[in-house]
Amino acid sequence: KHVTLLGAPVEEGAESLGCAMGPAALRLAGIRPALEKLGHQVEDRGDLAPENQDTFALPGSARNAPLIVGWTRTLERAAYQTLKDGRLPIFLGGDHSLAMGTVAGAARHAAEQGRPLFVLWMDAHADFNTPATSPSGNMHGMPVAFFCGADGFSGILPDDRPLVAPEQVFLCGIRSIDPAERAELAKAGVNVFDMRFIDENGIVAAMKRVIETVRQAGGLLHVSFDTDFLDPDIAPGTGTTVRGGGTYREAHLVMEMLYDSGLVTSLDIVELNPFLDDRGKSAYLLVELVSSLFGQKIF
Ligand code: ARG
Ligand code: MN
Ligand code: MN
Ligand code: MN
Repeated sequence: KHVTLLGAPVEEGAESLGCAMGPAALRLAGIRPALEKLGHQVEDRGDLAPENQDTFALPGSARNAPLIVGWTRTLERAAYQTLKDGRLPIFLGGDHSLAMGTVAGAARHAAEQGRPLFVLWMDAHADFNTPATSPSGNMHGMPVAFFCGADGFSGILPDDRPLVAPEQVFLCGIRSIDPAERAELAKAGVNVFDMRFIDENGIVAAMKRVIETVRQAGGLLHVSFDTDFLDPDIAPGTGTTVRGGGTYREAHLVMEMLYDSGLVTSLDIVELNPFLDDRGKSAYLLVELVSSLFGQKIF
């Protein structure tokens, strides 16, 4: 594969700072040589910078909205252009608000190809708040609502930009949802594989459904991987840990199944906060998981 690494050191969408160091930590943990070792051709475009949006305001509770909007516009273009160039972008986060831009850009590219875009959202959280429902105002809790077209985000991107149909979004690993967020999520019709589902049916059942759905629709697949999908015991380096998360074995298996499917066309690795990590433990694990997603095999 022709892979492009793009750093998105945004941290103002989260409560605690530190995610801006995420791209540097992923590079230090060896993401590029790991991909090259698997035979991929890798280009690193370094860290991007947000376009200036000093005057943009959103009604409601959305902390640092002007900056996040600037990032969204920059990342939308970067995702779109990289995909158009026939490359597979990996966005190195940065907090999860960056997916407002990366998913929107992937959606624009997919629409141009006449193919549906599916999103696999690996996360402890649903990230389906809006400025009207968010208890925290933190925009990393809002990207899924944004790209599903929920109210409260108008003006961030041009109105004619394609969004993602909620039925084409799969949330996996969910174990923390805010009350108003839950109501909106249910109304929208997003597919949710919460931890209860995974406990009862296994992560393989969830992944088979995702992969089969995308394959039958001839779709493209964007994977957005939040570090807090993982159990905090194995990935402490993130700001909003929730116990009872994905295990080491489950996470690798997901990545291996995705590799075998051949369906993944773009990827975010987000919410790594090196300031909270334990001697690079989470960064190294994320690089390992990226290796599994790009063809690393046990045997
Ligand atoms: N639901 C909470 C909020 O809206 C937490 C969101 C955490 N999101 C994340 N990408 N880690 O503030
Ligand atoms: Mn998230
Ligand atoms: Mn999360
Ligand atoms: Mn990963």
